Amino acid sequence: TRRLTVLGIESSCDDTAAAVVRAALRGEAAEGPGEILSSVVWGQSALHAPFGGVVPEIAARAHAERLDLCVEAALSDAQLTLDDIDAVAATAGPGLIGGVLSGVMTAKGVAFAAGLPFLGVNHLEGHALTPRLTDGLAWPYLLLLVSGGHCQLVSVDGLGEYRRLGGSIDDAPGEAFDKLARHIGLGFPGGPEVERTAASGDARRFALPRPLLDRPGCDMSFSGLKTAARRAADAVAEGRGGLTAQDRADLCAAFQAAVAETLAEKTARAMARFREDHPDAAPVIAVAGGVAANGAIRRSLEAAAAAQGFTMTAPPLKLCTDNAAMIAWAGAERFARGESSGWDLGARPRWPL
Ligand code: KG4
Ligand code: ZN
Repeated sequence: TRRLTVLGIESSCDDTAAAVVRAALRGEAAEGPGEILSSVVWGQSALHAPFGGVVPEIAARAHAERLDLCVEAALSDAQLTLDDIDAVAATAGPGLIGGVLSGVMTAKGVAFAAGLPFLGVNHLEGHALTPRLTDGLAWPYLLLLVSGGHCQLVSVDGLGEYRRLGGSIDDAPGEAFDKLARHIGLGFPGGPEVERTAASGDARRFALPRPLLDRPGCDMSFSGLKTAARRAADAVAEGRGGLTAQDRADLCAAFQAAVAETLAEKTARAMARFREDHPDAAPVIAVAGGVAANGAIRRSLEAAAAAQGFTMTAPPLKLCTDNAAMIAWAGAERFARGESSGWDLGARPRWPL
C-alpha cells in the first residue's frame, strides 16, 4: 500500500504541538487508523495560570519561541527527517490569531524550504476526524465536540461534509468549568481541578438548573448554569466567610452533574436524529475535545449511548485535548484527496466547521 507521512502543527490556543502521522492510502482516500509516529505537546498552562485564563499575547509569544524546536522534537521522536515527509499541515483557524499565525508561518517555512505541499487545516476538523485516526471509523458517524472553546453535535457524513445538529448558544462547557474553578479559587485549567474536587462531593446539595432541557432540539446553554453555580458559591461563602473544602467539593459535583446530564440528554436527541437521517449506518457516537476527558461526563454519555443502542467511542485522553496528531491526520485526509493550500493562505480566527 502507498502511505502518506504528514507533519502537523497546532498552535491555536495554549498548546504548542507538532506531530508526525502516517496514513495508508486506498485510492484517493486516507484509510484509518493512522500511525502516530510522534506527538509532542508543550502546554503553556504554567504561563497562563497566574492570570486564571489564556492570555493571547503570552500565548502568541510562547508559540513563536517554541514552534521550531517543537517541530524538531517531533521529527526526532519519529526518527525521521523532512526527506521522509510528504506534506506539512498546520491549524489555520479557528483560534487565537497570534498563535495561529505563528503555526501557519512555521509550517509554510518548513514546507517551502523542503519543497513540500502545505495544508491549512481547520482545528475543529482535526477534532472531528480524530476517531478516524485512532479507530479507523467509517463515515458517517455522530460527533460530540466539547472543549474550552467549542460545543457542537455534528453529523460527520464525509470529509468536509459536516452537518451541525446543535450546540451551545453561549459558553462552551470547558469555558464554564474554567470560570467556575477560577471563581471558587481552584487552579487553571479548571476542568481537571473541578473533576478532582468533585470526587469527594455530594451533587445533591446544590440544585443547579439544566438549561434548555425543556426545549426541543439539540441546542445547549452553559452560561446560566455557570452563573447559578457562582451564585450558589457566593451565597454559601457569605454566610460562612468563605468556602470550605466540602463546599467546593459539593458545588463542583453539582455543577459537573448538571453539565453531564445536559450533554447526555441533548446528545441522546442527536442520536435519534442521526438514526433517522442514516437508517442504514452503524450507530456510532464519537466524543472529542478536552471536556471528554471528564470521567463523569463520559459515563453519562456512555449510558445515553447504550440506551439509544449506540456505540460510544472516545479517543485516548491525549488525543481528546489539543494536539498536532489530529492536525496531521486531517491534513493527510485532505492531501490524499489531492488538496493543498496556497502560500497566500491566511489565518482565520473564526472558521466554522
Ligand atoms: O480541547 P481542549 O484541549 O482545547 C480547546 O478548547 O480547544 O480543551 C480544553 C478544555 C478546558 O476548558 C479544560 O478545562 C477542559 O477542556 N477540560 C476538562 C477536563 N479536562 C480538560 N473539563 C472537564 N473535566 C476535565 N477532566
Ligand atoms: Zn481544541
